[in-house]
Amino acid sequence: MSDHPAFVAGGAAVVTGGASGIGLAAAERFASMGLRVCVADINADALAEAGNRVAAKAANGAADVMTAPIDVSDRAALEGLRDAVADRFGDVTVVMNNAGMEPVGKALGDADMWQRILDVNLWGVIHGSQVFAPAMIEAGKPAVIINTGSKQGITCPPGNAPYNVSKAGVKVFTEQLAHELRSIEGCQVGAALLVPGFTFTGFTRVHVQEKPDGAWEPEQVIDEMVAGLGRGDFYIICEDNEVTRDVDNKRILWAAQDITENRPPLSRWHPDYAAAFADYMKG
Ligand SMILES: NC(=O)c1ccc[n+]([C@@H]2O[C@H](COP(=O)([O-])OP(=O)(O)OC[C@H]3O[C@@H](n4cnc5c(N)ncnc54)[C@H](O)[C@@H]3O)[C@@H](O)[C@H]2O)c1
Repeated sequence: MSDHPAFVAGGAAVVTGGASGIGLAAAERFASMGLRVCVADINADALAEAGNRVAAKAANGAADVMTAPIDVSDRAALEGLRDAVADRFGDVTVVMNNAGMEPVGKALGDADMWQRILDVNLWGVIHGSQVFAPAMIEAGKPAVIINTGSKQGITCPPGNAPYNVSKAGVKVFTEQLAHELRSIEGCQVGAALLVPGFTFTGFTRVHVQEKPDGAWEPEQVIDEMVAGLGRGDFYIICEDNEVTRDVDNKRILWAAQDITENRPPLSRWHPDYAAAFADYMKG
């Protein structure tokens, strides 16, 4: 299988949330594929080490890597980043809007926390896509915008309403983006939604130091992402060591059928539907 044509040696990639976890694994992979890489992250302390790790994979070492301490909720900062990357590396062929945060909140929870999580997880993706896309389209080269979503934005398990809303927004935004891009005559820029499973990253380390058996390593997510992009997939739904693609597909269908079957929302977690859901998953 061949790689997505955006992955050309000498091309340039930008990865937000690139100082840790899935973003760092992507930045390292892009560098090892011959791209020059800009690693952007709000965590300035982690960026230096991340930059060194990415440079170790790059054809020309540190010359192929730049780091940028930015907050993705700040559109002006992303505009500055776009200009700085263009000055240093030229045309950008890969943008991965991946930065995210996961404070836990409720539907009736703190409004400031809702605002912040939407500013980062959703607006960060919208800003990143809108700021970088025009020049990518104009360049006329094969290119891709990859936005990191979550199963929590598709099947929406109860427990973290603002995070789920932010990731549902990332899904819908990226679907619309893909449609708009493919509707522009001659446009060579595509979009893809990366949906990691349970992955051992900074998110997970807040709770546990050792990798849980059920979790994937971030590099496995990136293996899946590169393979999916190579196949031309839009939805790149990753498994983990507990959840297979078949299980994910069934859960996604059950969630959609809450509407078509006129069940209560999130019926998968409703006691009246526990037996029916268990039977369905066995079927
Ligand atoms: N780990 C999982 O199981 C999992 C599952 C599904 C989706 N995801 C998604 O994957 C993405 C990457 O997360 P991860 O798991 O690698 O966690 P991580 O904590 O290792 O990486 C997230 C990175 O984003 C950065 N970041 C946070 N807020 C930022 C901001 N405002 N501006 C710029 N950078 C910012 C952090 O500093 C960090 O380096 C996130 O969007 C997350 O929602 C993770």
